[in-house]
Formats: sequence, C-alpha cells, structure tokens
Amino acid sequence: MSRIALVTGGSRGIGEAISKRLQADGCTVAATYAGNDEAAAKFTAETGIKTYKWNVADYESSAAGIAQVEADLGPIDIVIANAGITRDAPFHKMTPDQWNQVIDTNLTGVFNTVHPVWPGMRSRKFGRVVVISSINGQKGQFGQVNYAATKAGDLGIIKSLAQEGARAGITANAVCPGYIGTEMVRAIPEEVLNSKIIPQIPAGRLGEPEEIARCVSFLASDDAGFINGSTISANGAQFFV
Ligand code: CAA
Repeated sequence: MSRIALVTGGSRGIGEAISKRLQADGCTVAATYAGNDEAAAKFTAETGIKTYKWNVADYESSAAGIAQVEADLGPIDIVIANAGITRDAPFHKMTPDQWNQVIDTNLTGVFNTVHPVWPGMRSRKFGRVVVISSINGQKGQFGQVNYAATKAGDLGIIKSLAQEGARAGITANAVCPGYIGTEMVRAIPEEVLNSKIIPQIPAGRLGEPEEIARCVSFLASDDAGFINGSTISANGAQFFV
C-alpha cells in the first residue's frame, strides 16, 4: 500500500535524505521548508517530490499547510517532525530571542506538526510519528542549552504520544542523530569541530544523512508496529543511554 508521508524540513540536510528514502520505500512524500525557495525548487526538480512552504513554529500555518497536503495527496499516514534550527551560544551570552526561536521551531514545531494529523490517524487506526531528536538532547552540549532542551523535550513527547496512540495503531518514536555531515554541523566553527567534537566520536567521522534516513524508514514502516515510544541512537558510539 502506498502511504502518504509528510517530512518537515524535508528539502535539505537530514530531511532531504529522509524524503528521498521514504519515496524509494514507495511512499508519496510531501516535504516542507521554511525559506530557501531555491533549494526547494532544485529538490523538487531532482526528485519530483512536492514541497510546501510554511513556518512550523506557527500553528495556523501548519494546520493550513497540512490541510493543503491532504487535499493534494490524501490523508497523511506518516509524519516525520524533522525541521529544526540552532542558535548556539554559551548560556551567559544566550539571548531570550535565541531561546525563543529554538523553542518555537524545534519543540512547539513538533506539536504544530503532529497535532493537526493526529485526529485523522486516530480515526483511520494507523499512524507513524517519527521525531528527529538529537544526541544533544540525551547528553547536553556546551553552547546549546536551548537546543538540548528542545531535543530532550522531543523524547517526552514521543513517550507520551506512544501511550496515547498505541491502541489506535499509531506509533511515535524518535531518532537521535549524532553529528551528521550537514550544513548545521558545518556551521560549527571549524576549530571547535576539529578539536572538541570529532575527537569525541569513536567512529572518527561524521555520520551521513542517509544513515539517519534508514532508521526513519524502518520506524515508519508497517513492520515496526510494536516499536512504540522508542529512541534509536545513531551517533558512531559517541554516547550511550
Ligand atoms: N567544551 C568545553 N569548552 C568549550 C566547548 C566545549 N564543547 N566549546 C567551546 N568551549 C570553550 C572555548 O574553548 C573557549 O574557552 P576559552 O575562553 O577558555 O578559550 C570558550 O568556550 C568560548 O567561549 P566564548 O564566550 O568565546 O564562546 P563563543 O561566543 O565563541 O561561542 C560556541 C562558543 C557557540 C558554544 C561555539 O563553541 C560552538 O558553536 N560550539 C559548538 C556547539 C555545538 O556542538 N553545536 C552543535 C551544532 S550541530 C547540531 O546541533 C546537530 C545535532 O543535533 C548534533
């Protein structure tokens, strides 16, 4: 059966790899993006995957966007809450704006993405929710009080959703990527990346976006119905829970 999948932040980085992987799995995929029209147009031209522009931090925009996706493609079976940003700074320098932007996008954005699709999943008795958390939600990170708070919050979200959705055939799981070779990680000052981060990864390398997409593909599959409220860590042995 061809499932309909929504991937937020699905045209770049880890989200791009997830969108392509779910398409390869046979899903009809819709990918959202926040601002980079050029990257989204290139992504659609290359993949044929439809893109939709909205800000996941805004509930009304998310609900309207999701209604449009469902009108175009059909009811959403699989939702991948992937969109996220960093505004790194040591806590003593972090501004309320840096805190709020990250909370609004990474944490409230998950609520705004899952809440509008949840009633349909409940009534159809099937759903797959996968939230892209982070190693830094598990272990914390110097310079990321805001980001780590949101990524730890994701784990509370999926554990609670799992309990609420289980009897309706809905699973909610998280993937915690370690440091993956995307623009987000490459934005870390090179000196910090080379001296402080890469030496902490026993695999000795950054992960590939496709390595995260393969985890998501499994959790989103019909076969993963008894895996609910779980977290898959994919971090090159950098951290164990
Ligand atoms: N551990 C310990 N000390 C650290 C450190 C670390 N990880 N990173 C920086 N420092 C130290 C520096 O050595 C420096 O110390 P000295 O002053 O004694 O030399 C000090 O902190 C730097 O302080 P500044 O006040 O100058 O800090 P800054 O304004 O330059 O900002 C920072 C520092 C923004 C935190 C920068 O170090 C940084 O970007 N670090 C990387 C944070 C990070 O890992 N982000 C992950 C992004 S990727 C992602 O989020 C995806 C994912 O899910 C994994």
